[in-house]
This record gives sequence, structure tokens and C-alpha cells, in this order.
Amino acid sequence: MNILTALKSDHKELKKILEDIEGTTERAEKKRLSLFAKFKDEIVAHARAEESVVYEKLKGIVDKDDRDTILEGYEEHYLVDKLIPEIENLSPMDEVWTAKVTVVKEMLEHHIKEEEDEIFAMVRKEFDPDALEIMAERFEALKAKKKRAA
Ligand SMILES: [Fe+2]
Ligand SMILES: [Fe+2]
Repeated sequence: MNILTALKSDHKELKKILEDIEGTTERAEKKRLSLFAKFKDEIVAHARAEESVVYEKLKGIVDKDDRDTILEGYEEHYLVDKLIPEIENLSPMDEVWTAKVTVVKEMLEHHIKEEEDEIFAMVRKEFDPDALEIMAERFEALKAKKKRAA
């Protein structure tokens, strides 16, 4: 496993959970709660591990344009972090819950696309295949630690 495969597999899973939520209605309270709890566990662990293993490493070595892309990525993570507790404070039967989750989904789809197009290219350019394997191990270990602590 290399880091790009690991990230891509998480991205697929995250998009799937959000699509599952989109397929529910405001009457499916329990289903929405359990899907959103799963989403939160996955996204928080993914984002923190990704920041530590990928963003932090790239930030100091890439050129200005690429650095700007990474800083935007951090801001998108931050916005998702802010929206999560707001969503948790609402009932999934509230139409505002639906609106906020839709915004998270749209933002994350855009975010994932930028990561897979632009940040993956930086990773391929800056690190050799052995480093990509080591990064994947660190990423998985950090994610597991984060999930245990949650
Ligand atoms: Fe991300
Ligand atoms: Fe990601």
C-alpha cells in the first residue's frame, strides 16, 4: 500500500457515506444519526492523519502556488470541523440538518477532487516509492490512534 492508494480508498468511503445520507429523508432519524456518526469518525481521523503525514510535509518544500493549494485544503478541513458540531446539535429531522450536510458533501467532493488532482501530483513529485509506503504506514497508524481516542 502506498499513501495515495490509502487516501483514495478513504475518499471513496467518505463519498459513499455522504451519498448514503443523501439517499435518506428527514423521517429516517436513526439511520441518519448512525451514518453521520460514522462519517464523523472517518473524516476526523482521515483529515488529522492527512494533515500530519501529507500536508505538513509538503508545506515546507513546495513552491508558492502549491503551498497556496495546501493552505486552502487546511481551510476546507477547518470548515468541515466547524460544521460537524453544528450538525450534531440539530435534529436529523430538521431541514437545516439536510442543508448543512449537503454543503459538507459538496465541499468535500470539491476538496477530494483537488487533493487527487493537485496534492497527489505534489506527493508523486516530492517523494520516492519507498517514502510513499512509509507514509501509508504512518497514516494508517495515526488514523487508528485517532479512532481509539474518539
Ligand atoms: Fe483532505
Ligand atoms: Fe483527503
